[in-house]
Amino acid sequence: MTAIGKPLVRRDGTRKVTGAATYAYETPVGAPLFCHPVQATVARGRITAIHTADAEVLDGVLDVITFRTAERLASTEDRELAVLQDREVAFRGQVVGLVIARTSEIARHGAELVFATYAESAHDTELSADRDDLYAPEKVNPAFPTDTGTGDVDAAMASAEVAVERTYRTAMYHNNPLEPHATTALWDNDSLTLWDSTQGVHPSRKTIAKVFGLPAERVRVVCPYVGGGFGSKGLPHVNVVLAAMAARAHPGRPVKLALTRQQMFALAGYRTPTIQRMRLGATRDGSLTALALDVVEQTSRIKEFAEQTAVPARMMYAAPNRRTTHRLAALDVPVPSWMRAPGECPGMFGPEVAMDELAYELGLDPIELRVRNEPGVDPESGRPFSSRHLVECLREGARRFGWDGRDPRPGVRREDGWLTGTGVAASVYPSSSRAGTTALVRFSGGRYAVEIGAADLGTGAWTVLPQIAADALDVPVEEVDVALGDTAYPVAAVAGGSMGTATWGSAIVEAARAFRDKFGRDPDDGDEADATTGDNPAREKYAMYAFGAQFAEARVHADTGEIRVPRLLGVFAAGRIVNPRTARSQFLGGMTMGLSMALHEDSVLDPRFGHVVNHDLAEYHIAVNADAPDVQAHWLDEEDPHVNALGVKGIGEIGIVGTAAAVANAVFHATGARIRDLPITLDKVL
Ligand code: MOS
Repeated sequence: MTAIGKPLVRRDGTRKVTGAATYAYETPVGAPLFCHPVQATVARGRITAIHTADAEVLDGVLDVITFRTAERLASTEDRELAVLQDREVAFRGQVVGLVIARTSEIARHGAELVFATYAESAHDTELSADRDDLYAPEKVNPAFPTDTGTGDVDAAMASAEVAVERTYRTAMYHNNPLEPHATTALWDNDSLTLWDSTQGVHPSRKTIAKVFGLPAERVRVVCPYVGGGFGSKGLPHVNVVLAAMAARAHPGRPVKLALTRQQMFALAGYRTPTIQRMRLGATRDGSLTALALDVVEQTSRIKEFAEQTAVPARMMYAAPNRRTTHRLAALDVPVPSWMRAPGECPGMFGPEVAMDELAYELGLDPIELRVRNEPGVDPESGRPFSSRHLVECLREGARRFGWDGRDPRPGVRREDGWLTGTGVAASVYPSSSRAGTTALVRFSGGRYAVEIGAADLGTGAWTVLPQIAADALDVPVEEVDVALGDTAYPVAAVAGGSMGTATWGSAIVEAARAFRDKFGRDPDDGDEADATTGDNPAREKYAMYAFGAQFAEARVHADTGEIRVPRLLGVFAAGRIVNPRTARSQFLGGMTMGLSMALHEDSVLDPRFGHVVNHDLAEYHIAVNADAPDVQAHWLDEEDPHVNALGVKGIGEIGIVGTAAAVANAVFHATGARIRDLPITLDKVL
């Protein structure tokens, strides 16, 4: 192994910073048309009339598509994607029309001239834990049991020497990648080409082909570069269907559609708010006797999305009496979807703050409390962990952060009017990979070319996949080219669930092996071999997770309540790190997004209208550089022989897990104010 482990610079870096990389909307196509969606102005109801004439007479408008004129989709099973098929409005901002014009400005102007009237129904967008219509979904994402339990939590809580019972809340969050959801579409020769900003060209093709009733080979999805996704581009949203519809209405003409930032708040997914009732019972010496988490969250009325928020609490700590539940309210709200570390990210807020609260009750250091409750095996499945170095992360983080000798008393340190404190929390993310991803290796012109239909959503696949291929072929990395981001290349899994590198890398390793087995070290020009990933049998024997520990320093102004986090430090045990440079970016990005969740991000849904009022980057605050002065990511050299042949665990999401709890715990240490609902804002600490 020589290329793996090197901090190689991004192969696509120069193309990106010089503007040479073309994103979906920029795909150079001749004489494109432009689309702009029209959105519903009620949160629930039926369209009674829709007036398109003013838009249609606008110079440059080609047509206006509504439920009356839109093509009937072959599959309307996914009701998020069944756009313009009927009069029903299920949430405010849902698409009720599409204007197609010569320029984007005309299309947008036209959309403003389309006017609909509605028979409005009463809508309901307010989540609470005491709604009487909460229901238990059949499973939570992607296929976890909704509820789990062993022992008797109530009895254990009643007899616990020390008990903590608290309710925590996380807010509604929107992914907000820099590049919006954008598509260039062309319908030509009975085939559809989509240049789309997506986390997975093949999964996107499969979904869109089904919606339009096309054989998959007549749909091509191309996506060499993505300006961020964080899960919101993991599944195609309605914008892709609209672009395809517009293209089919204008055969031979390329059509472009980019959601505006404001439209993204209704149409591109988001993370559900969560209400987390957390119970911990313990002995005086800090052994957990009971652990329970009951989660309430929302989904949309038209499509269920059940965030698996209580899932991480099932495996983090040992406790003989355990219980987790999920209950959903189906509201008149936009469809929730994936957002970085779905489940783990919100689901480690309540438990990791509760552990801090319990540590105070016990007079025990919060690191020591976690160490005392390390499970020998996964408490949920009874399987041993393939590797678990949480304690080592906590210890190494404590050493680097300067935790030893910390005075635990809250609210007693003051520097120039600022109260200061520190906090810690654990991170976790499952390590998975997917069967059915194929890579192809070809020798051509004295070089090796790897083709794989993966997508690089800005995380580094263009760079790390050649590293993996070079070592697998035992050649210098400079002699390897990788081609990705196109369904013309072999089928590959989505860039999601932190599974990209593990899955695609495994396919590449197997294809390289197949190539060498077939052609040896001296291949002829044009020789090629491919291989497809299978199931990992070790998955039946081991629980596989990456772990981490995050430390935060908080400063809270005693008079104004202004909150600053001058320092964040994470230590992770995430298997083999393929490229320290791109990996560090992943950890730092995740942690910064977690800091943003702790202090800033909050989609404010106005229940009167059912609409997120702060739907732009002026009012939906995201941490900027000045908010994150010193963020450090470190990792342990961890070898895990079970997760996959590469020993790669996946790093895209673990960085955002636990950060908000570490910040909340630091704010408590600084001020003595225990904030249990995110974001932590100055009105809450004063
Ligand atoms: Mo990630 S939210 O699984 O793209």
